[in-house]
Amino acid sequence: MADAASHSVPLHVAIIMDGNGRWAAARGLPRVAGHREGAKAVRRVIEAAVNHGVRYLTLFAFSSENWQRPAGEVQDLTFLLKHYLRSELDELHAEGVRLKVIGERERFGAALAQELEEAERKTANNKRMTLVLALSYGGRAEIVTAARRAIEAGIKPEDLTEQNFAHFLFTAGIPDPDLVIRTSGEQRVSNFLLWQLAYAEIWFTKVLWPDFCAGDFANALEDYAGRERRFGARPV
Ligand code: FPP
Repeated sequence: MADAASHSVPLHVAIIMDGNGRWAAARGLPRVAGHREGAKAVRRVIEAAVNHGVRYLTLFAFSSENWQRPAGEVQDLTFLLKHYLRSELDELHAEGVRLKVIGERERFGAALAQELEEAERKTANNKRMTLVLALSYGGRAEIVTAARRAIEAGIKPEDLTEQNFAHFLFTAGIPDPDLVIRTSGEQRVSNFLLWQLAYAEIWFTKVLWPDFCAGDFANALEDYAGRERRFGARPV
């Protein structure tokens, strides 16, 4: 297992959880069975991240494009999210996990948006790990929203910098991801954290999300530990 104190452990891991539908199809099951199994993988990976000493874990749970899926699947995903929140919040809180939601949560309706807000409030002072759930999230929409907020705040064009612009993003105060994991063999960024991934290392695996386990997470961290990060500069 990786040493939690080591610098080779990424501070922030972000995951594109992909392959729930294919996992279900391969077993002749409805897609919702894949999403249900995917929610179990979420549990495993949060535990693995905490154990490795990862301080920020971001999970892409619902993209702004996912609204285009059939209404039944959107409903299933919303139900799973609600259920997950209700059944896991106390344990996450007890484990010292702070919850933060990014994206357009209002699109899930006022009741769920409020529940998410309460969960954020309840866990706000937890220090062990921050779990960021990207819900109804799209990277381009986030950047446009941030630009609007900067304009509304009265920032003059000549005063806008990469640093102060970042304060208007949903992720204000959260360090950029060091490592991105995408499951299921697809090799795309899919409108995920477009601004924040500028220098992230990316790790792809063919494992479908419902099968993703603590060992896969450890493999990703091990691969990351062997990489040389230069942030565009040359090695000293
Ligand atoms: C991608 O698989 C996955 C999603 C669109 C949703 C992710 C949701 C979960 C893991 C479960 C609920 C989440 C939480 C936080 C409780 P896909 O459906 O695109 O799979 P496919 O590409 O094989 O069709």
